[in-house]
Amino acid sequence: MSSVHELLVSAARRLTHSPSPKLDAEVLMMRLLGVNRAWLYAHPEQLLAPKAAAAYDTLVDARQRGMPVAYLTGEREFFARAFRVTPDTLIPRPDTERLIDATLQMKLPERARVLDLGTGSGAIAITLALECPDWDVTATDASEAALAVARDNAARLGACVRFAAGDWYAAVGADERFDLVISNPPYIAPDDAHLGEGDLRFEPRRALVAADDGLADIRCIVAGARERLLPGGWLIVEHGWQQGEAVRAIAAEAGFAPVKTLDDLAGNPRALLAGWQQPDDPEHAHHA
Ligand SMILES: C[S@@+](CC[C@H](N)C(=O)[O-])C[C@H]1O[C@@H](n2cnc3c(N)ncnc32)[C@H](O)[C@@H]1O
Repeated sequence: MSSVHELLVSAARRLTHSPSPKLDAEVLMMRLLGVNRAWLYAHPEQLLAPKAAAAYDTLVDARQRGMPVAYLTGEREFFARAFRVTPDTLIPRPDTERLIDATLQMKLPERARVLDLGTGSGAIAITLALECPDWDVTATDASEAALAVARDNAARLGACVRFAAGDWYAAVGADERFDLVISNPPYIAPDDAHLGEGDLRFEPRRALVAADDGLADIRCIVAGARERLLPGGWLIVEHGWQQGEAVRAIAAEAGFAPVKTLDDLAGNPRALLAGWQQPDDPEHAHHA
């Protein structure tokens, strides 16, 4: 029988391709044993039964083949909450938390109507519903499998979110209007070499890739927001770090003002913030 310490050391040696071999080895062990890191450090000599050691070996083997840690543990933290994830959902990224920060700093109505397009695990919609319980939050996705995970996350985290399946705006009623449309859509170009690297190899292609150099879904979301936003409403859309200028141009051409870009934690341009018929926009001031 091998000890926890011996298994961790040997796993970290096998995971040298990973950016964080020791951390991965520990996280997989914590998940298997249902313990926290403090327990691992306090019980290095603990022996694992052959069955548990074999289960650990299977997890390390999958990680060695590149399977994302989040798919092996079945969860990823987003805005300090644990979200269940499966290979049917994107693994939520810290950069997307920037969209949440920006939304929470905005002046939206007390009972804002919010639409999260392409919700995946539900990370954005559920976080907003929990941070602002008076908001009326709707979340959509084209993937029924992803929506099932999102519904489960909402139930486990106690969030009140309405879920709807369908192609972008077609998932909600034609006469519905919102104060905020928010989305982290697919925006990677089909020929982008990154698709063959890291976690992206295992995530749903539908969650990642968009035609037209990665801009096709963003165009669709911006165009549709004109019909779906209430006067004075806002559109927030995540995009690739090289797409800021193109996405601002798409929004400006569609009649949004102001049109701004939000930077991610590393200072890269990563999301569109666009206003629709804002009272201080000279074009629409007389409607206010
Ligand atoms: C980049 S993932 C974002 C998931 C989640 N919002 C997040 O930030 O972790 C994009 C999501 O859009 C969904 N999607 C792709 N095409 C769609 C479409 N035409 N209509 C609705 N949702 C779509 C995918 O299934 C996927 O869940």
